[in-house]
Amino acid sequence: IMRKNIVAGNWKMNNDLSETEELLGHLKMQMVKEPEAEVMVAPAFTNLYTAFRVLKDTPVIVAAQNMHEAESGAFTGEVSAKMLKSIGINTVILGHSERRAHFHETNEILAKKVNAAMEQEMRVIFCFGEELEDRKSEKHFDLVAKQLKESLYQISEENWKNIVLAYEPVWAIGTGETASPEQAQEMHAFIRKNIAEAFNDEIAENVSILYGGSVKPANAKEIFAKEDVDGGLIGGASLKALDFIEIVNSF
Ligand code: G3H
Repeated sequence: IMRKNIVAGNWKMNNDLSETEELLGHLKMQMVKEPEAEVMVAPAFTNLYTAFRVLKDTPVIVAAQNMHEAESGAFTGEVSAKMLKSIGINTVILGHSERRAHFHETNEILAKKVNAAMEQEMRVIFCFGEELEDRKSEKHFDLVAKQLKESLYQISEENWKNIVLAYEPVWAIGTGETASPEQAQEMHAFIRKNIAEAFNDEIAENVSILYGGSVKPANAKEIFAKEDVDGGLIGGASLKALDFIEIVNSF
C-alpha cells in the first residue's frame, strides 16, 4: 500500500494577513522537520501567496479552499486554477460542505471543477459526506456513493494520483460532535470498496481518505488508528498551531 497519511488544516474564512503571518510563524517554528504525515494548510485567497512564501522551505503544502472551473473570463469575484498555479499553489480543496450549502455547489458543478483541476494537474482534496437526516434515514452510504459517482468517477485512472478524499459527515463539522472511529472506519471502507468497483483495487488501496469533523488533539489518535482512515481535514483545531501540530503527530 502506497497511500500517504495526510493532515490538512482548512482555515476557512479566518485570519487576516497579520494573523496569518503569526500562525504561519508558529507552525514554522514548532513543526518537526520530518512529520509522520504530509501536512497541508489552506488559508483564504488573500493570504495564499504569503503562506506559500513563508512555508516554501518547509514540508508544509499550501492549498486553496476553492477555485472556479473556467480558466479565465467574465466571472467576477472568482479565481482560476491557472491563477493559483501562477503563485505556486498546486493543491485545492473542492466540494466542502460549506461550499455546497452556502454557495450552492452541486455534484455537477463539482465535476467541472474537478475536471479543471485535473487538466491543470492540480491536486484535489475532494470533500463529501452526508447530513444528519441522511444518516437517520440510513441513506448515508447511497448519498456518499452518489457524490463520488457524480463528481469524481469521470476522471481517468491516471488522474487518481492527484486525488485525496475527505469524508466529512456534515453533522460533525464544527459541532463538537465527532463520528466515532468505528463510524469513520465503516464509511471509509465503504468508499474504498466503491472505488474498487468503479475503477480497480490498486486505485482504491492507494488513495488517501481523510476524515473531517471536529477532529482535535484528544480524539485524533483513535480516529487515525483505523485501517482505512489516512488522516484528517481539520477546521477549528487547525487555527491553533499547537493543537494542529499535536494532531499531525497523532500517527
Ligand atoms: O474542513 C474542515 C471541516 O469542515 C471540519 O471542521 O474541524 O471545525 O469540525 P471542524
